[in-house]
Amino acid sequence: MTIALNVNGKSHDIDADPSTPLLYVLRNDLALHGPKFGCGLGQCGACTVHVDGRAMFSCLLPIAAIGSRKITTTEGLLENGKPNKLQQAFIDEQAAQCGYCISGMVMRAEALLRVNPHPTDAEIRQHMQPNLCRCGTHAAIMRAVKRAAA
Ligand code: FES
Ligand code: FES
Repeated sequence: MTIALNVNGKSHDIDADPSTPLLYVLRNDLALHGPKFGCGLGQCGACTVHVDGRAMFSCLLPIAAIGSRKITTTEGLLENGKPNKLQQAFIDEQAAQCGYCISGMVMRAEALLRVNPHPTDAEIRQHMQPNLCRCGTHAAIMRAVKRAAA
């Protein structure tokens, strides 16, 4: 079955089973490797993307449920091929250790800053809570989000 998806501003006709998780289509069909497979169960956030601007776990989202909503991955945040303000803040704060969680962290934080450009520390912590970092770089991630929000 062919399903139309709008990803990072482009339309794609995807030939896949409607129950296929969005994450698989992004990585395997569209070669967008920012979103990562961590748990596949909605428990880690490595697969986080935006769906109409809201952070969602792409591992849990069947492509049939997306409809006309717009998907954005971390690749879609680039501005003229360069990191946007938040992505640059993650680089400047050296927030990545292994880096596996970082795309998801960026997407979750970006969703917050778009509705709340100057969040408090408590608001950042609460918002970022669904995303895990097994390397424990949470302090650097906090600094990066605050740097982008300054
Ligand atoms: S891979 Fe989606 S939440 Fe872990
Ligand atoms: S930097 Fe390794 S999981 Fe977060």
